[in-house]
Amino acid sequence: MCGIVGYIGEKQAKPILNEGLLRLEYRGYDSAGIATIEKDGIKNIKNKGRVNALFEVNGIDALQGTVGIAHTRWATHGKPCSVNSHPHMDNSKTFAVVHNGIIENYADLRDFLKSRHYEFFSETDTEVIPNLIHYYYNHSDNTTSSTSEKKFLQAVTDACKMLKGSYAIAVLCSDYPDNMIVVRQDSPLVIGKGNKENYISSDIPAILPFTKEFYFLNDKEFALLTKESIMFYDENLQTIQKKIHTITWDSGSVEKDGYPDFMLKEIFEQPKSVKATIGNKFQKSKTMIGDLNLSKAYLSSINKIFIVACGTAMHAGLAGKNLLENLCQIPSEVDVASEFRYRDPIINNQTLCIFISQSGETADTIAALKLAKAKGSKTIAISNVIGSSITREADYTIYTYAGPEIAVASTKAYTSQITLLAILAIYFAEILEIHQDKIEELKTDIQLLPKKIETILKNTSQIENFAKKIHKEKDIFFIGRGIDETVALEGSLKLKEISYIHSEAYPSGELKHGPIALVENGITVVSIMTNRLLLEKSISNVQEVVTRGAKTFIITNQDMNYDFDEVIMIPKTNTLISPILSVIPLQLLAYYIAKEKNLDVDKPRNLAKSVTVE
Ligand code: M6R
Repeated sequence: MCGIVGYIGEKQAKPILNEGLLRLEYRGYDSAGIATIEKDGIKNIKNKGRVNALFEVNGIDALQGTVGIAHTRWATHGKPCSVNSHPHMDNSKTFAVVHNGIIENYADLRDFLKSRHYEFFSETDTEVIPNLIHYYYNHSDNTTSSTSEKKFLQAVTDACKMLKGSYAIAVLCSDYPDNMIVVRQDSPLVIGKGNKENYISSDIPAILPFTKEFYFLNDKEFALLTKESIMFYDENLQTIQKKIHTITWDSGSVEKDGYPDFMLKEIFEQPKSVKATIGNKFQKSKTMIGDLNLSKAYLSSINKIFIVACGTAMHAGLAGKNLLENLCQIPSEVDVASEFRYRDPIINNQTLCIFISQSGETADTIAALKLAKAKGSKTIAISNVIGSSITREADYTIYTYAGPEIAVASTKAYTSQITLLAILAIYFAEILEIHQDKIEELKTDIQLLPKKIETILKNTSQIENFAKKIHKEKDIFFIGRGIDETVALEGSLKLKEISYIHSEAYPSGELKHGPIALVENGITVVSIMTNRLLLEKSISNVQEVVTRGAKTFIITNQDMNYDFDEVIMIPKTNTLISPILSVIPLQLLAYYIAKEKNLDVDKPRNLAKSVTVE
């Protein structure tokens, strides 16, 4: 939530920051701002609304500086307006700060600063940061030479020692026009290394067109940047060495590539992303997943697996539960990360906890992981982003290879996550030496998935036409049994978040225990039926809603002789991995409905791609 980007080099900063902001907009888009170091000090320009509105503000063309920071906001403290937008400056206008996160003790810090005659103009938590830095810059018994940029660094580290909460911060100081300082605590930040120029950003895609060389900061690590150097320090100002990582993502992967929206592009990328996630993990003798190296003794000692995640990643976890229980015979539970933390889960060294996060930056998921670790469980992170926070906390990380996912509504990450969970379940089962026959068949089915997804994507017109018919509806139901219910949940989430249509997902058999009271003439019920064994019962449930006047949209891989309104046929596959196919018509349905309603599918209201606050 909130995106920050910075540039220090020889080029004019503004166009680079503009491009970075546009790429970060998926993290928040209610206001934006930019500060650059000009000949006569720091110039700070901000505006309510999207990034494009910022670049229409009078005076923005005058920014010529080659050092700058910028921010796109997802409001937490203080309504979206120009004054509350970042960058925020201290009273003397010496420091400019962009911040992603929440300063939990900002009220106390405000009082501390007010009692020392500092004034506040915004309602934000962030405004305390530049003023606190200014306070330490002028008041601490700072023994560092007053001419060295270390004085700037010392003031920032002193201020950060006072902050409680989460933050990724970039700071400029007009006294040190050739420097930028960044630090993080529980909020994402990456540093991109260039040639006589350096970049900072909340995430890799925003600056991927400029560099592929990245440093990842750990909590409470500070970086002092010039155009030619990046020095790293701990909070006691001891220098530290950091490893540089080369990112293999293609910079074209952060472009729309001729598609009208990232979401559609990402839906159509699924044959590729699933294929890349399978990679060459199925080796002749055994399945291999990166560096994962678990023993038979350890896996046999596990009596419970927790899968913990949020939103779509949690829905992928539901498919993972089925896979792990079915193939490995280990009881598995799926938890929403924000609930898991506070319910005192029973965890010990006989539990294994798997955390799924596309971004690897979801605050609740990371906090849940820390809890599981503290209670003695081994932890596996499944992430799509190399070097993301979750990957640095977990005992083991395994990656999906979906490529950057830009649209707020997650699509290709979901199918890649289930693919990887299926491979993980196979990996466990092979070590445990169970279900060898099932496993071989499943491996073949997994490898056939990319082609089958392509088949579904070849015929989208039926879904598009149905979307045209129903886009004005107020409520839509999604139903399914077994694994299909988990897909119903995901279909319903996709629809809600991008089309703003209220929807409910239910196990088909549960409808008659209450929700069927809401089914009336003309309502749409989407039913997923991919399990041969549950087909008759599922059809009966659909008949129950048809009788009450519902329109039906069926997604199935089974032949059926019934007169339902719309039946989308998808290829057959193993039921355990069927969500990877059955979700695709649902993603498209949500997409086409949102387009029909003329909505911004990539940036739905109130949402942000990466939820870095609790
Ligand atoms: O980056 P993560 O996978 O941790 O994100 C989790 C959820 O915030 C995310 O899946 C969210 O639900 C999506 N907007 C759903 O499309």
